[in-house]
Amino acid sequence: MHVMTIVGARPQFIKAAVVSRALRGRPGVRESLVHTGQHYDPNMSDVFFTELDIPHPAVHLGVGSGAHGKQTGEMLAGLEKAMLELKPDWVLVYGDTNSTLAGALAASKLHIPIAHVEAGLRSFNRRMPEEVNRVVADVLATLLFVPTETGVRNLAAEGITKNVVRTGDVMYDAALYYGDRAGDKALQGAGVTAGRYVLCTVHRAENTDDPVRLGGILRRPRPRGREAARGAAAAPAHAQHPQQQGRAEPAGVRVIDPVSYLDMVALERHAAAVLTDSGGVQKEAYFYGVPCVTMRDETEWTETVEAGWNALVGAEASRIERGVERALAGKPAAHPALYGDGHAGEQIADALQRQRP
Ligand code: UD1
Ligand code: UDP
Repeated sequence: MHVMTIVGARPQFIKAAVVSRALRGRPGVRESLVHTGQHYDPNMSDVFFTELDIPHPAVHLGVGSGAHGKQTGEMLAGLEKAMLELKPDWVLVYGDTNSTLAGALAASKLHIPIAHVEAGLRSFNRRMPEEVNRVVADVLATLLFVPTETGVRNLAAEGITKNVVRTGDVMYDAALYYGDRAGDKALQGAGVTAGRYVLCTVHRAENTDDPVRLGGILRRPRPRGREAARGAAAAPAHAQHPQQQGRAEPAGVRVIDPVSYLDMVALERHAAAVLTDSGGVQKEAYFYGVPCVTMRDETEWTETVEAGWNALVGAEASRIERGVERALAGKPAAHPALYGDGHAGEQIADALQRQRP
């Protein structure tokens, strides 16, 4: 069985590391990894391949950044060629990025079965490029690996009930596997002390590309006697060190470049609270029992909100500030297991073998 894994953006490297480890060493199983090049800076790509022991890409398309249509179109052409040459039995796509969309579209045109990891998630906001990407990937997928009960319900509401496998979340597998390997040197690097900072990441286009929303976010968090590490954003354009942009760092705020996964885990685990618009970071805050404040109007990870560990506050400064204050005030008593048993990767590998085309 030959599985072609399509990755391109930071969170996909982390998810693919988990499944790749589960596939490795299985008799008769072969994996070829294709990197679209959507993320390319060393601290957005190479660092994960080295740190997480991800197989070297069989093909690197080097597509880079660009408008959605151009970027996705170039990926589509490159992936079609790679699929025709390498003839995989499965195409495995992750999450909801343009690399996911291109992988699913290219495979569907060539009648290659598609398996979608992180299927079934919905924000119900079609203005988000990710929502369109994940809806299309789910419609085209032969096999849908769903992390949560909510995801299974979302698919059922769209009439998708066949070949839906609830596996738990591969990022939870990663948190269990790598969590203890993260030391705390990243805290020194960021200039923060354990338990005395709020970790903040911003990268979602709805925030970074809207001056009003970005303005609200940048006015907060105020330090209020605590140190704040403004953690790495997905787009280094936004995460660039302010000195490089000729701007002063706001008092009490440390702006840092994107960090490696293990360093990020350390910064998350030791934070007093997390403030983010990232999907993965919301969940990781939950895995590590750190209260989270999400600077979005909706989330795909609704169960973290229902459990009381995550608050949706949008991007207005006063709501962000109130959210952070509440998050710092205390934690909910219960921490239910929402994301599986840490064996999502194995379950995905098993299902791919069982349903081998
Ligand atoms: C993409 C995904 C988003 C995901 C995020 C994970 C889409 C539509 N969006 O968002 O779902 O949450 O990745 O991190 O696929 N850039 C660099 N260096 C890089 C990569 C990007 O400087 O290595 C800059 C470029 O200016 C680029 C911008 O970041 O234009 C945005 O990159 P892009 O991949 O288009 O979207 P992300 O915001 O990273
Ligand atoms: N991450 C990282 N370094 C950073 C910021 C994030 O390793 O500087 C990791 C984070 O721990 C999580 C994943 O990247 O595993 C989340 O990716 P991102 O926020 O880019 O995208 P999203 O999850 O929103 O799609």
